[in-house]
Amino acid sequence: MTDAEDFRALPKVELHLHLEGAAPPGFIRRLAAEKSVDLSGIFDARGGYAFRDFRHFLQVYEAACTVLQTPEDFRRLTRAVLEQSAEAGVIHTEAFLSPDFCGGGDLSAWREYLAAITDAATEAQRDFGITMRGVVACIRHFGPDKSRATARCAAETAGGFITGFGIAGDEGAGAPRDFTWAFDCAREAGLGLTAHAGEWGGPESVRAALDDLCVTRIGHGVRAIEDTALVDRLAESGTVLEVCPGSNIALGLYADWRAHPVAKLRDAGVKVTLSTDDPPFFHTSLGAEYAALARTHGWDESDFRALNRIAAEAAFCDTATRADILNRLEPAP
Ligand code: ADE
Ligand code: ZN
Repeated sequence: MTDAEDFRALPKVELHLHLEGAAPPGFIRRLAAEKSVDLSGIFDARGGYAFRDFRHFLQVYEAACTVLQTPEDFRRLTRAVLEQSAEAGVIHTEAFLSPDFCGGGDLSAWREYLAAITDAATEAQRDFGITMRGVVACIRHFGPDKSRATARCAAETAGGFITGFGIAGDEGAGAPRDFTWAFDCAREAGLGLTAHAGEWGGPESVRAALDDLCVTRIGHGVRAIEDTALVDRLAESGTVLEVCPGSNIALGLYADWRAHPVAKLRDAGVKVTLSTDDPPFFHTSLGAEYAALARTHGWDESDFRALNRIAAEAAFCDTATRADILNRLEPAP
């Protein structure tokens, strides 16, 4: 089993997917043409997204978002993304939604965007059998003031579809403690919490996310491997890592799949899960991630089933939804 195709039928749970980052380049090109926006600079000769490094990736990502201007654009985007995920065998996905990228960041219109996203998710559940929940993400390099406004959006729409809050963006901008207010606000609204850390920041960034933001999940977190005491802490606390190996390799964090620490983290008892982050940017799919790990680390179907159970247990959702996800992963005989 070494091809994405080999893993297509295996039911999967994905906890770390950026809605805009999952936009197929053709989808963004079509919207750009419809709106007469020149985005030619962000594509390579074969039509994929082109970027040199992480900071440039963030710029290209934000340029692509400029054509996502109306709730209808987000309705179409959500349907396209969920169809793509369902084709890869994903049965439940948690997608980061960034009010800051909705129609140029006019947060007063957040409820309209969210209604369009929710409608599309309901239709996708009917048409493709995939369920989705939204994790509102603030953007670190947009600063603490924006994060507070974004957290208020999340808190005001918490419950039902919106089940979590997180932070993405440039880990080099500010420190987790600058975002404590936003995370406190989200926690008080009953939202599950996750933070991107230990991707571009070292182990100290993971510690800071745990200590200052009190998250139960970490986006990436892979650089925890550089600190044995931290690895032990993650294992003991049951903190869940949303690991996206293909993203880390495409962005140059690790040279190749063999060098990636996901297996070491798992073997040390850390709860790892697998996700794609921004699949079209990194030419990946969840099935392709599984296939690469099968090829390079010898993981097999039973390994992936175990990781999917961890993901289902860690999903930000209510008890009935979790039971439904677990049942769709492994139907009762
Ligand atoms: N936004 C989208 N992808 C991201 C990543 N890998 N790191 C931080 N922010 C992101
Ligand atoms: Zn991410």
